[in-house]
Amino acid sequence: MSLIGLDSKDKIIERFAQHVSSGKAEFFAQAGIDFVFGKREGVYVWDVTGRRLIDCHCNGGVFNLGHRNPRVIAALQKALEELDIGNHHLISEPRARLAERLAALSPGDLNRVVFGVGGGEAVDMALKLARGHTRRPKVISAQGGYHGHTGLALAAGEAQYREPFEPLSPGFVQVPFGDLDALRAVIGADTAAVIFETIPATLGVALPPEDFFAGVRRLCDEFGAVMIMDEVQTGLGRCGAVWGINTYGVVPDIIVTAKGLSGGLYPISALLYREFLNPFLHANPFIHISTFGGSEAGCWVALEVLNVLEEPGFLDHVRRMAGSFREGLGGLQKKHAGVLREVRQRGLMMGLKMADPACGPLMTLAGFRHGLLAIYANHDPSVLQLLPPLIIQAHEAEEVVGALDRMLAWVEEALATVNFSQEQRPP
Ligand SMILES: Cc1ncc(COP(=O)(O)O)c(C=O)c1O
Repeated sequence: MSLIGLDSKDKIIERFAQHVSSGKAEFFAQAGIDFVFGKREGVYVWDVTGRRLIDCHCNGGVFNLGHRNPRVIAALQKALEELDIGNHHLISEPRARLAERLAALSPGDLNRVVFGVGGGEAVDMALKLARGHTRRPKVISAQGGYHGHTGLALAAGEAQYREPFEPLSPGFVQVPFGDLDALRAVIGADTAAVIFETIPATLGVALPPEDFFAGVRRLCDEFGAVMIMDEVQTGLGRCGAVWGINTYGVVPDIIVTAKGLSGGLYPISALLYREFLNPFLHANPFIHISTFGGSEAGCWVALEVLNVLEEPGFLDHVRRMAGSFREGLGGLQKKHAGVLREVRQRGLMMGLKMADPACGPLMTLAGFRHGLLAIYANHDPSVLQLLPPLIIQAHEAEEVVGALDRMLAWVEEALATVNFSQEQRPP
């Protein structure tokens, strides 16, 4: 029996509104989006009624290897023959193996790992480690950045999500992303950590100046602050290298990874940290507890994700596909110059900067009509985020570019015929 479509679409939406989130149900109804996640396979997802979309959202990288990747499924099935969650207090073979593999994939002496379940938890732990090591309070992050909705990660993020819950942890300061002078103005002897996403997706796939992270590294070294890179979206091959920060030639003190490490099947996150940070955790080995963090079955799934990532040719494939997109999107920019202002890209981390903040939501809506799942950037709605699965093939990339062409034409027409005031904009 199939697990999908047991009920009618209306019934599913009604039950969801009644018991999961009345607010989300209302939001999507108002936006004219009635998509209910059904079948999923490879680069595609289907509505329960059978409408097919190509997934260029990928939950921010969860589906880097596509939906239900056969190798990841096989790894989970194998793990379930012998393993379960394990006991988080005890020494564990799968956790030791996965940590060793992550360390081997990382630059410098990023040799040590703490496991978690989700990205926010791993960011929290990274900030705890920075404060525990330095015994300093201040944490500097980017305005418009996103690190998750848990405690310290939330404090490092946007006001709209944290203000209802204040007072949160004190000591958090935000600066414009990519602005070294602004960072220099606030960093000091009281700074525990500087945390940035390598490319903040939610801020509109904002690309920093090429020398920005080298400058961040220098400032962190000068003031003894811990440099943390949130690679939750940019890591694990997304930018054409194992870590996005590798492409900037900089070694941070902590790398946070999550989403894609799960293979889309088993939640797991991790932070990698450098040797000099270890004395704090060596002295306090039980200071961060996560019952499900680094679950043993999840470790086997993550190991298979790393096997795929390290397969000869995998990153070459990502870079090749990135080249196809560069060409295709460049053509679209010429053709739709009125609405498509800029293509932002590093590997398969891409964003389309549009002429107006109404365009991102309109493009998302157009995507549902023209066969593409893509979401606009919440902190800069003029940008449509574009994160296809890394396993995408040339003909599928062409399909994406074709869908974008139709979507852009639809948005051009919509903008020409409707005067979008702030109130009339879709959410
Ligand atoms: C860059 C970044 N960091 C952290 C997180 C938080 O991850 P999670 O939702 O697994 O807590 C996200 C989630 O979208 C993210 O995009």
